[in-house]
Amino acid sequence: MKILILGANGFIGTHLTESILATTDWQITAMDLMQDKLDHCITNPRFHFTLGDMTKQTEWIDQQIQQCDVVLPLVAVATPALYVQDPLRVFELDFEANLAIIRSCARHQTRVIFPSTSEVYGMCPDEAFDEETSVLVTGPINKERWIYSTSKQLMDRVIYAYGKHKGLAYSLFRPFNWYGPRLDNVFNPKPGGSRVLTQFIGNILRGESIQLVNGGAQQRCFTYVDDGIQALMRIIENKNNVADNRIFNIGNPVENISIRQLAETLVKLISAHYPDYAEKANAVQLVNVDAKNYYGEGYQDVTLRVPSISAAREVLSWEPKTQLEIGLRKTLDYYLR
Ligand code: UGA
Repeated sequence: MKILILGANGFIGTHLTESILATTDWQITAMDLMQDKLDHCITNPRFHFTLGDMTKQTEWIDQQIQQCDVVLPLVAVATPALYVQDPLRVFELDFEANLAIIRSCARHQTRVIFPSTSEVYGMCPDEAFDEETSVLVTGPINKERWIYSTSKQLMDRVIYAYGKHKGLAYSLFRPFNWYGPRLDNVFNPKPGGSRVLTQFIGNILRGESIQLVNGGAQQRCFTYVDDGIQALMRIIENKNNVADNRIFNIGNPVENISIRQLAETLVKLISAHYPDYAEKANAVQLVNVDAKNYYGEGYQDVTLRVPSISAAREVLSWEPKTQLEIGLRKTLDYYLR
């Protein structure tokens, strides 16, 4: 199988590349603006990497799409602070740039596996979000946070329509707070400069307080990246075309904890297992901060976000296996050792 990965140097891209090279005989063609997280893959003869900007190298990409069996367009802005600070960039990259890829896939009838997001459900009131029945609930236009959710939602709808009316074979996967090594740069000191886990690790390393937005009672289901990648591998493999024209929530409904609990767990783990940083962890303060002060007026939050994973269970025979504390230890080993 020949796979095209755009954004291979990103969090999902690097883990997926590693997994494909280690466990299959598939060929990967890949592009990214950077390659710093792929150094260990670059010499593999089945990995054909080009440094480049997917918004500029459109001809090259179109050719690759024609020649490969499946495309994974993984390039996107996925940090909530940026949805508020630079909503147009989110729209231009996550929607417009990716739309060109989807159109090329439709033109060449090349299968596409697209990263949707748990964020499309927004403030859906369901206890567990279902791909086929849950409503997608976002806030008013002046809450700019939702531009990511709605850009991704519109793309889901466009892909669905290409599937139904133009014969495009697709799968959509919705990661629910995947985490693990290489998630974000923990040395980015800006509040909101990365996603919550890496933000908190960075706070502890720098001896700063951890800021709990609106008190940190909001909950997330944290999903260890290896579990997520296993599901993705099965979607790519697509035995008997089971994943064709389907949407899959890929998350860990069991590991549903509040952001405050996440902060407390991190402090506990670092204090117990990483002696070089224990003093800093023990000294850290958890402070409540108003979302308006942390992210700005354009922010609105999701209180509860639990996936139904029956589609992934039944169709892909997939189950998340990694307990939160085990996954956090592996992540901390990467950042602290
Ligand atoms: C994320 C991002 O939108 C995407 O990466 C992704 O599509 C999606 O979730 C997903 O992976 O499922 P969110 O979970 O809100 O959205 O983003 P985080 O930055 O990880 O924040 C989680 C929670 O922690 C939010 O409620 C946020 O307000 C809070 N937070 C964040 C804090 O309390 N303190 C901080 O310093 C940072």
